[in-house]
Amino acid sequence: MSTSAPAVAGSRQPSADVRGEAARRRTFAVISHPDAGKSTLTEALALHARVIGSAGAVHGKAGRRGTVSDWMDMERDRGISITSAALQFAYRDAVVNLLDTPGHADFSEDTYRVLTAVDAAVMLVDAAKGLETQTMKLFAVCKHRGIPIITVVNKWDRPGMDALALMDEIAERTGLTPTPLTWPVGIAGDFRGVLDRRDGSYRHFTRTAGGATIAPEEVFPADQALAREGDAWTQAVEEAELLAETGAEHDQELFLAGATTPVLFASAVSNFGVGQLLDVLVDLAPAPADRPDADGQPYPLDAPFSAFVFKVQAGMDTGHRDRLAYIRVCSGVFERGMVVTNASTGRPFATKYAQQVFGRDRETIETAWPGDVVGLVNAAALGVGDTLFVDRPVRYPPVTTFAPEHFAVARVADTSKYKQFRKGIDTLAGEGVVQVLISERRGDGSPVFAVVGPMQFEVASHRMEHEFGARISLDSLPYSLAMRTDEASVPAITASSGTEVMQRADGELLALFTTKWVMGMVREKPGVTLEPLIAAQLG
Ligand code: G4P
Repeated sequence: MSTSAPAVAGSRQPSADVRGEAARRRTFAVISHPDAGKSTLTEALALHARVIGSAGAVHGKAGRRGTVSDWMDMERDRGISITSAALQFAYRDAVVNLLDTPGHADFSEDTYRVLTAVDAAVMLVDAAKGLETQTMKLFAVCKHRGIPIITVVNKWDRPGMDALALMDEIAERTGLTPTPLTWPVGIAGDFRGVLDRRDGSYRHFTRTAGGATIAPEEVFPADQALAREGDAWTQAVEEAELLAETGAEHDQELFLAGATTPVLFASAVSNFGVGQLLDVLVDLAPAPADRPDADGQPYPLDAPFSAFVFKVQAGMDTGHRDRLAYIRVCSGVFERGMVVTNASTGRPFATKYAQQVFGRDRETIETAWPGDVVGLVNAAALGVGDTLFVDRPVRYPPVTTFAPEHFAVARVADTSKYKQFRKGIDTLAGEGVVQVLISERRGDGSPVFAVVGPMQFEVASHRMEHEFGARISLDSLPYSLAMRTDEASVPAITASSGTEVMQRADGELLALFTTKWVMGMVREKPGVTLEPLIAAQLG
């Protein structure tokens, strides 16, 4: 189903090859609220790039239960994929890496972490609903990281908002200036095609049965478009003129700087506008660039191989205690079998088993270039944020932890299993499955799990019981937000009710609050320092 770059001989690549291969890569993720159509769009992209014969082969909704990774009973029962991986395909002369984000309604830090490994994001918006909460949260992370964003207004085949009103909403809520590249012909619910603002032509789409094959597109000059579509065309032209007057034109520099967002209109389910999205990704989205190391110095793409771990997934196969670490290649060429050094431990790691994973499909990877994602099997020694390199030492910045919004006290059900309990907690904290907080009030026998999405609690409980043999109970705490604080602020914070201060495993002091209102009150007290953790609470 996927394509990999041709195998190469020898382990030293001329730097021209590395830069050339990197320049062909486009590595991105789709950020959206559940049900906006991310899975449908993923299939449609794969269909367009001819990865698969017809939509549905990757993970169509109907077939999703059977096709997603089923590494955990829990996951299979719900027909969801908790895990993220990458789909790679060739399009034109480019190699596109689409990093998958968990598709369930609840979401977790995994979703955020994927965004540390992409060079661009596609913000998928439901035409009827506009910008929804999870979209805004993920947008905030992209903005924080300076990731350029392409906006796709989806479901234009269904009644929805007015296109200009949608542009206003995007501008107001994200602060980005929308610069539509296409403009819909026909209101939401009557999607006939798009006016291509770049050359004024009309692209007419033809629906195919069930959207199972690529929708044929015909291009007409403006006068023929008017004859075909009448008022719908006139309205599109008028609105496009209005856009031009407000200066909503694409500017590559402003887009890359995160000030503007190109907008496309689409119907993923009918495959309308999908080919244009691929073209825009290839033409406008940035290729991998020299990545700043932990000291902020750009590490050259054509330096020897380096990568960082953005996700670790354990327990995929309980029989084998299988553990996969997903790395994003940052420099040089990856060749399966090479022995790399883990910058965190200084230890070598042999990459004998390297795979490309999407849903249930796994394929051995021989070679990978900057921007590509590789799943390393048997990666017990690798943790999220670890840097791997050969020859020339480098260390990338640690992968950020995000502001937790759910908190629960963990207790071991059978006290004779305390040792297993401790080991499990340390492992889960190390992998970043949950953040572990200790409060003086509760003692370290009752650690507090702090998570971004409640699904992480279930994953942690399941693993504590099945992997470490320590069943736990979780009692949720009434807090909903956490801020970074310092020792000096603690007495003033804890004097208010609805607060508690805890220490995270990395030493950070976190102040927890039941509500934003309580936090606001505490923040007003003299001498109290509260700093936001990253982005996650926007929206
Ligand atoms: P997600 O991964 O973002 O959660 O969304 P997903 O692709 O599963 O799509 C959610 C629902 O929206 C699906 O309908 C899907 O068919 C529908 N959908 C996606 N894109 C479009 C579009 O462009 N136009 C229209 N009209 N619908 C779209 P469902 O009823 O939940 O599933 P199904 O029975 O249709 O498969």
